[in-house]
Amino acid sequence: MCGIVGYVGPTQNGTASDVVMEGLARLEYRGYDSAGIATLDGDTVAIRKRSGKLINLRAEIDAHPLPPTTTAIGHTRWATHGGPTDNNAHPHRGGFDGRLALIHNGIIENFHSLKTRLVDTGVSFSSETDTEVAAHLVAAAYERTGDLTEAMRAAVAHLEGAFTLLAIHADQPGVVVGARRNSPLVVGLGEGANYLGSDVAAFIGHTREAMELGQDQIVTITPTSVSVIGFDGTPAEGKAYHVDWDAAAAEKGGFPSFMEKEIQDQPHAVGDTLLGRTDAQGRLMLDELRISEESLREVTKIVIIACGTSSYAGMVAKYAIEHWTRIPCEVELAHEFRYRDPVVDQRTLVISLSQSGETMDTLMAVKHANELGALTVAICNTHGSTIPRESDAVLYTHAGPEIAVASTKAFVAQITACYLLGLYLAQLRGGAGAGQVQQVMRDLHDIPAKIETVLGRMDRVREIARFMADTRSVLFLGRHVGFPIALEGALKLKEIAYIHAEGFAAGELKHGPIALIEPGQPVFVIVPSPQTPHDLHAKVVSNIQEIRARGARTLVIAHDGDDDVVPFADEVIRVPECPPLLAPLLTIVPLQVFACELASAKGLDVDQPRNLAKSVTVE
Ligand code: G6P
Repeated sequence: MCGIVGYVGPTQNGTASDVVMEGLARLEYRGYDSAGIATLDGDTVAIRKRSGKLINLRAEIDAHPLPPTTTAIGHTRWATHGGPTDNNAHPHRGGFDGRLALIHNGIIENFHSLKTRLVDTGVSFSSETDTEVAAHLVAAAYERTGDLTEAMRAAVAHLEGAFTLLAIHADQPGVVVGARRNSPLVVGLGEGANYLGSDVAAFIGHTREAMELGQDQIVTITPTSVSVIGFDGTPAEGKAYHVDWDAAAAEKGGFPSFMEKEIQDQPHAVGDTLLGRTDAQGRLMLDELRISEESLREVTKIVIIACGTSSYAGMVAKYAIEHWTRIPCEVELAHEFRYRDPVVDQRTLVISLSQSGETMDTLMAVKHANELGALTVAICNTHGSTIPRESDAVLYTHAGPEIAVASTKAFVAQITACYLLGLYLAQLRGGAGAGQVQQVMRDLHDIPAKIETVLGRMDRVREIARFMADTRSVLFLGRHVGFPIALEGALKLKEIAYIHAEGFAAGELKHGPIALIEPGQPVFVIVPSPQTPHDLHAKVVSNIQEIRARGARTLVIAHDGDDDVVPFADEVIRVPECPPLLAPLLTIVPLQVFACELASAKGLDVDQPRNLAKSVTVE
């Protein structure tokens, strides 16, 4: 939510605005209500900003070119305070002379009282944003201190809420100062140039050497130095790391959209997440899990917390984790978990799932779990992000950068990582689950090739999607691990195709949803593998008959060789046979392709759907 870029480079090379614009293009997935850039122009600050997508800002810069410069900051916005207008776009100027420019990600919760005080001292505001308050506070502190780092430190002492702030001042060419609290900011370490970004994508075209910052820290970059202090002024050290993917991974690579690319990338996302997790004897080793084996053996309850697509990955994982470990496992939306009174103690393992590692709702829930004394493990796709840092341990998914707002490859990687964790717990605790570990690991290693097979069969799904471009409502039914897949299939369609879509547990059909069935209503049914216990397969086949009898158009996702569904299906979409608990890794794929193709057929921007942002860094 909001993308932030800062850059300082060599004095003889004035391309700072190009570097920042390139960074903004890579971060646009974080928000696209408006975009803006500030650079130094002699002894003033030049600002260009425009509402709408980055393309509008580009046109503005083409019409009014920026001077060559060594220092620049840029912002792409997901609006919170104040509508998505030119005026509310960042950067904002601070001070009576406007010689300071500032950008912000997050929400300053006490902005109203601060603004009232500033107005009383004669400051006039040109936007409705909370951000402008911070710009004026830093500018006023600069007047007193003459030092941008000290000014930032003085200003953040007045701010409540979550924020990443970057500022430049006309008096200080070659300096960008950043501050962060509960909102992301990483440093890119270049040669004779340094970078700041909401995530490493901001500078991945220039350097793969990065540095994590801690909470409540201020960073000052010049072309040749990076210095970090705490909000209390004490010197601090960032943690340097190497980014294990390159700029090509953050580009479309010939695909029409990032989402399409990321769907196709799923065999790798699962394969890479499985890589290097077993020893020569086939025993699972999760070295990254810095929680003692003894503590994990004593766990009596598991709570999975997440939002959006990640929460559906958690719902899938619950079936498997309880089956293998026999530990009760709950799944809860992070924002609901945070503000009720959950029963959690030292023997509760709280697993957070987050692609970005920055979702504020999930972060707050993790902090709450820590306060309650739980063991916290993050399953995360973004190195150096906040949620892993706030957790006792982290298990990284290796899906690579996910750029499209609608999550696809991160979802399958999260399920895979949850399965690794569940199997690891089963292995540690012995019992029946431990005996299944090696077989399940072998089955998991077969999954990438099976996803590849599904992807190779998508022509008909694409045809159906194009044919259904005018559909107004689609229902999704699933049972057992197919239930969260029904929810995720519906979410994909809502998110990117703006079609009313709902997922239901097939067993719930007769308790209400069947009333929605009328002639021609399209219904996807995710049929459990015939090997699923308790005859669930037969029960879902009966459900298909029930809705078909009422006129539904049935689009049935079934395993190879499952002929029972054929008489009742208008369309059968096949996935390879696979053990029931692993089937979600296959059955989700046609639903992702369907949503992506349908949204494209409607002419929509698949990667940047309206009103959404990939990384939701406000509560
Ligand atoms: C936003 C995104 C969703 C994502 C959710 C959780 O709502 O639009 O695609 O599933 O956040 O994100 P996380 O990064 O925590 O997995």
